Amino acid sequence: MDHKTTNEQKIISGFSKLSKVGKLKWLAENFFKDPQSTIEELRSYWHSDDDQQKILDGFSENTISNFPMPFGVAPNFLIDGKPYAVPMVIEESSVVAAASMAAKYWMSRGGFKTTILGTIKIGQVHFKWFGGKELFIKIFPQIKADLIQEAKSITANMDKRGGGILDIELLDFTEKEDGLYQLRCSFETCDSMGANFINSVLEQFGKSLQTFIFNHPSTSAQSNQLMVIMCILSNFTPDCLVRAEVSCPISELGTMGFDLDAEAFAYKFWTAIRIAEIDPYRATTHNKGIFNGIDAVVLATGNDFRAIEACGHAYAAKDGQYKSLSHCSIEDDVFRFWIDMPLAVGTVGGLTNLHPIAKKSLELLGNPTAEELMKVIAVTGLAQNFAAIRSLITTGIQSGHMKMHLVNILHQLKARDNEIENAVEYFSDKVVSFSAVRDFLEA
Ligand code: MEV
Repeated sequence: MDHKTTNEQKIISGFSKLSKVGKLKWLAENFFKDPQSTIEELRSYWHSDDDQQKILDGFSENTISNFPMPFGVAPNFLIDGKPYAVPMVIEESSVVAAASMAAKYWMSRGGFKTTILGTIKIGQVHFKWFGGKELFIKIFPQIKADLIQEAKSITANMDKRGGGILDIELLDFTEKEDGLYQLRCSFETCDSMGANFINSVLEQFGKSLQTFIFNHPSTSAQSNQLMVIMCILSNFTPDCLVRAEVSCPISELGTMGFDLDAEAFAYKFWTAIRIAEIDPYRATTHNKGIFNGIDAVVLATGNDFRAIEACGHAYAAKDGQYKSLSHCSIEDDVFRFWIDMPLAVGTVGGLTNLHPIAKKSLELLGNPTAEELMKVIAVTGLAQNFAAIRSLITTGIQSGHMKMHLVNILHQLKARDNEIENAVEYFSDKVVSFSAVRDFLEA
């Protein structure tokens, strides 16, 4: 096989039309030093069952292989009195270990409590209207009724499941942009995340709005004064919200094996949360730690982690400044730690039922409803945050993190099994660094 390297040869038209092997060959020949071994390596990650591979290929386009990620489990979560083993897909060392530690710690202190504060999803029809504000406001009740009626064929099934369209509001943005209005629509999508449902309804709303304006006697003469700009769900769902919390008397916090009594621990912990409420630089890292847990469960259950992240960060900035998503209080000698987390997730539809491992994750969680999954995800985020802050205010994170990372370094240095065993033992009471591990192996 020739190894071609000119820039021209790295450009192709019709890539998507090549077979999978064709794509792989073209890429290997034009972008990799050793095409044959590249093809073999990437092919080795293909699923051994063709039908399973077809399902995976169906999720995306131009697929050439699968990208493995570790599928871990954090056991011992007690949530509202029910035990869970939580599935987590994450590549960062020590995240699953940290979640497991926090789960076990709170299990013996009553576990996690949760409350669903809302399940409303949002969609928007953005449009321009220059045919008169008063007139539009006057006919809006008729428009609203018409839009809901015209979407009935799309909403029938969701209506039967107890969901559907909750409301359509007219919002006026004309002070910021000439002629700009919005239909802000709220939905209940039951156990599905509902993106396809909401977007289909919104696109129908856009068409029905145009038809209404075109046909209605008071607006037909100025139907050219309407321009529907776009119809799309909003990933900001502040009313699809779950609270997860833990609490216990300060005395029950224990010393946690560190040189810190329970009271000092509580005070340091509370202050760490305060810092993340005050300073966006710290809040970003703090919330990243929360998303270490949240994203891992969202991914494992086949949900859309980009949507969850975008919403979480927008929620963290809802008061005008980016802040911590978690909060802490110490009142009457009781330590309380909680998070209010917007989580628009589903347990039916989308990838949740297609991805073979997502299905297993959901089974591991007892095939939860969307609300139950919201609870598990928020709890995992809180547990992750607890573990991170606990490390930060005591030992620092590097000792635990680097211990977990030690095995990665050993693999990178191609250590043999017995060397790995010896290194783990040797570094059990020493600082891990890449050079220290290399020196150890060389010695
Ligand atoms: C690392 O992935 C996450 C932390 O930085 C979170 C935090 O600082 O709170 C440890």
